[in-house]
Amino acid sequence: MPLPIKVLLLFGTRPEAIKMAPLVRALEKPPRRFRVETVVTGQHREMLDQVLELFAIHPEEDLAVMRPGQDLAALTARVVEGVDALLARRRPDLVLVQGDTTTTFAAALAAFYRHIPVGHVEAGLRTGDLAHPFPEEANRLMTTRLAALHFAPTEWARDNLLGEGVDPSTVHVTGNTVVDALHAILERPHRLPAPLEAAFAGRGPRLLLTCHRRENHGPGVAAVCQAVETLLARHPRARVVVPVHLNPAVAKVVRERLDGHPRAHLVPPLDYLDFVHAMRASDLILSDSGGVQEEAPALGRPVLVLRETTERPEAVAAGTARLVGCDPERIVAEAHRLLTDPAAYRAMARAANPFGDGRAASRIRTHIERFFA
Ligand code: UD1
Ligand code: UDP
Repeated sequence: MPLPIKVLLLFGTRPEAIKMAPLVRALEKPPRRFRVETVVTGQHREMLDQVLELFAIHPEEDLAVMRPGQDLAALTARVVEGVDALLARRRPDLVLVQGDTTTTFAAALAAFYRHIPVGHVEAGLRTGDLAHPFPEEANRLMTTRLAALHFAPTEWARDNLLGEGVDPSTVHVTGNTVVDALHAILERPHRLPAPLEAAFAGRGPRLLLTCHRRENHGPGVAAVCQAVETLLARHPRARVVVPVHLNPAVAKVVRERLDGHPRAHLVPPLDYLDFVHAMRASDLILSDSGGVQEEAPALGRPVLVLRETTERPEAVAAGTARLVGCDPERIVAEAHRLLTDPAAYRAMARAANPFGDGRAASRIRTHIERFFA
């Protein structure tokens, strides 16, 4: 293969951008073996742009596919068609996708149709349940079937792939690039913006809440909000910061339930720098996010996972994460225990790094070089 190898990184949502950013940098490093191109689908807009700005990524193309309240079929169709057209123009040697979103799967499918090899970053995570997370479990499975290279963050993820009959010579354990991103962010000196600092000032438990999963829309999100109201009532000095996801299906319910509560601080999505520091400043995180389950162990912050299953059991095994679902009683009971029992809290608030050592991106680069050698 003549150098440089043309690698196209394709992504579209906030978490993909955070986890692709270290890889963009690693592939651009000397010696220059790669011509690196980034293209975004724009599945997210504001939440993606925040990350692009923070990591100074300037995409070559932006498909701008996002529509308000988009449905999965139309979104998938827009991404497949848009990516197909740009692949025809750009003709990369390799397409890299990340994770389990609609962008991930639809971009991999478009590349597969054009006989362009796909490298899948963060491959092999599984719950074994197509309904949880929905549609991400299916997206990740289908991307596996299409990919030529599989970058598994952990041994467990690799074993899942091998158990499904994926050729072992194409599977590489690299760690998760989210740890690389987290390290890069923690190197930057930073103070929380004044409103966040004020929200977390003084004594009393500091909670941080995020939720957005499609399977939790409606009753799930309402139940989580109810749990938070109960917790705030039981702990008169507790405060909760809620960066509200821009999905209208989430934002509407969260605002109806929590807006106006004097100790619930609803804020727009935080940029990654602020969010990492907000995690660090909190005592307890409540979240259904995938990325947060990976970051909380590295930061030593207990996270109650608002889901019944997880494709990241390493965080539970590390002791930092506990699955609590969306049942208000269970959420309140677990959170109350952690806020009142220092031994239980200490047992969970341990820094651990089951997802990598911060060098995942450079390992992925090495495996790509070998693939083309
Ligand atoms: C998507 C991914 C999910 C990922 C999550 C990360 C799919 C099916 N879902 O979920 O796997 O965990 O991103 O956050 O790929 N919106 C905005 N501005 C933004 C982002 C979203 O206004 O910057 C609103 C739009 O109305 C959009 C809606 O949110 O239609 C839903 O966005 P979408 O990407 O379809 O789903 P998410 O729930 O964000
Ligand atoms: N995050 C952020 N700002 C926020 C909330 C989350 O930067 O207001 C980061 C978080 O640290 C993690 C990623 O976004 O790296 C997770 O994104 P999300 O929860 O939207 O998606 P998931 O990881 O569940 O796919």
